[in-house]
Amino acid sequence: MDTAEVSSICCIGAGYVGGPTAAVMAYYNPHLTVTVVDRDQARIDRWNSENLPLYEPGLLQMLQSARDGSTEDMEHQQMATVSPQSERRRPNLLFSTDVAKNIGAADMILIAVNTPTKKRGLGAGRATDVTALEAVTKQIAIHAKAGAILVEKSTVPCRTADLIRETLKTYRPGVHFEVLSNPEFLSAGTAISDLVSPSRVLIGSQPTTEGLRAATALERVYSWVDPCKIMHTNTYSSELAKLVANAMLAQRISSINSISAICEKTGADIHEISNAIGADARIGSKYLKAGVGFGGSCFGKDIRSLAYLAETLGLPEVAEYWQQVLKINEWQGTRFARKVVKRLNGTLSGKKITVLGYAFKPGTDDTRESPALEGIRILLDDAPAEVAIFDPFCCPTVVREEVGRLCGSEVLKCNDGSVEVYENAYEACDRSHAIIIMTDCDEFRQSAKAGYEVSNLENRLDWPKIVYNLEKPRWVFDGRGIVDLDVMEKVGVRVEGIGRVGWGGL
Ligand code: UDX
Ligand code: UDX
Repeated sequence: MDTAEVSSICCIGAGYVGGPTAAVMAYYNPHLTVTVVDRDQARIDRWNSENLPLYEPGLLQMLQSARDGSTEDMEHQQMATVSPQSERRRPNLLFSTDVAKNIGAADMILIAVNTPTKKRGLGAGRATDVTALEAVTKQIAIHAKAGAILVEKSTVPCRTADLIRETLKTYRPGVHFEVLSNPEFLSAGTAISDLVSPSRVLIGSQPTTEGLRAATALERVYSWVDPCKIMHTNTYSSELAKLVANAMLAQRISSINSISAICEKTGADIHEISNAIGADARIGSKYLKAGVGFGGSCFGKDIRSLAYLAETLGLPEVAEYWQQVLKINEWQGTRFARKVVKRLNGTLSGKKITVLGYAFKPGTDDTRESPALEGIRILLDDAPAEVAIFDPFCCPTVVREEVGRLCGSEVLKCNDGSVEVYENAYEACDRSHAIIIMTDCDEFRQSAKAGYEVSNLENRLDWPKIVYNLEKPRWVFDGRGIVDLDVMEKVGVRVEGIGRVGWGGL
């Protein structure tokens, strides 16, 4: 495939990765046609509507431009300045369930299907489940044009490109396809800006003439990215780098969380420690926020995959090292929830406990592997009168269904259990014996004094009102270090946090 010949891209998988990635590629390349295919008709219907299957700031505007041809000003300032055209554009982003036809028409095929952790069999709970990837590779082998370039977008174990090549050879012998690795580094809530202004774009290829030509073709698709941010590596480095990036970020969180436990027993303060060490440019200040542990669909999955890879390569010490990152993460969440029970005299009987924040982080309704859920499970063991949940970004009905599915429907208030999900923070906190903060939402921040910029002042909780309506002795358990200990204690609230000495001293 000559680089100049790429005029159509097919992205398989209309999920969190495929949808936004394709939208940005189409937006910045009006000359290309980008089609996203998925076997799920309902999901494709939503991508073809205004009611998208996921929310990411800036995504709808990208779609309105690339999918619908609209030229209205982009809300995103940065996007507006680099908008590639000023008159009505040709719609060049399509969503379809016709997988075979669109694979057959594409010069370049992105694989963005889900690669979760295996649930059963060999490597269950650790290995990556490549069932979907294997299935679409077979479809590609059958339907793709000879010479189409394949791009792994999904996060995969190292050397998956070989598996893809083998599958292609089996189902399409004698036809050559180049396989590239081009992992995504998208965070929930900032996916569009991560795509528009990436820290780097990694392209892994085979060190052959065809491999390098394919890599150049993909580099050209990233037409909006500064070329010095595009990094070329061999295929295996690119595949492994994705796992390592997430593992290293998660490792920093577990490291700082392990130190937070020392702070609680010595009088040192974890925020001061983070600031002190983060000022060293060699360490850097990011991902050093202590809390109830990391959640989300990627960190846990990718570390498990990395540890499993090490184990299967005969490197048990390496596997154990990365497992420990997960172990500390679980321990941190558990010890925080147990501290709540201990501080409430070892019993939750007859008490209402309020959980503020249910998603795995602020600004998203994504609840996958959320530390809040594990905390709630531990609280439920002590049979509280009520566990009240509030999250400004999550739909109460969805949270209720999820808690019912994961903890058993009998725990829900509607089935005479104790869990209720509220639309209103004040109702959730009313007459509560303890408030537990599980995400660092700006809405929950008590004051700018806690050392943070508070962006959405008007949505911030009225803490004096909440405190007034708490049952005595008023307890707040701050799992994300966002309330001001001194201010709270002055108004008679007992605060127990992470990484600092709590109420009553050492
Ligand atoms: C992505 C990556 O693929 C994963 O490797 C990374 O670690 C995280 O993000 P994501 O986009 O979140 O996954 O997955 P999901 O939202 O589940 O979307 C995958 C889509 O692929 C689904 O819509 C599913 O219907 C589709 N699919 C799956 C197919 O169309 N065909 C298949 O055979 C399998
Ligand atoms: C992460 C990576 O950042 C992204 O590059 C990758 O592509 C996918 O996985 P995401 O899962 O969206 O993105 O969330 P992120 O913002 O990284 O946070 C992950 C978890 O770590 C959250 O639960 C967050 O609360 C926690 N966290 C983050 C901390 O506890 N402390 C920190 O300092 C930073």
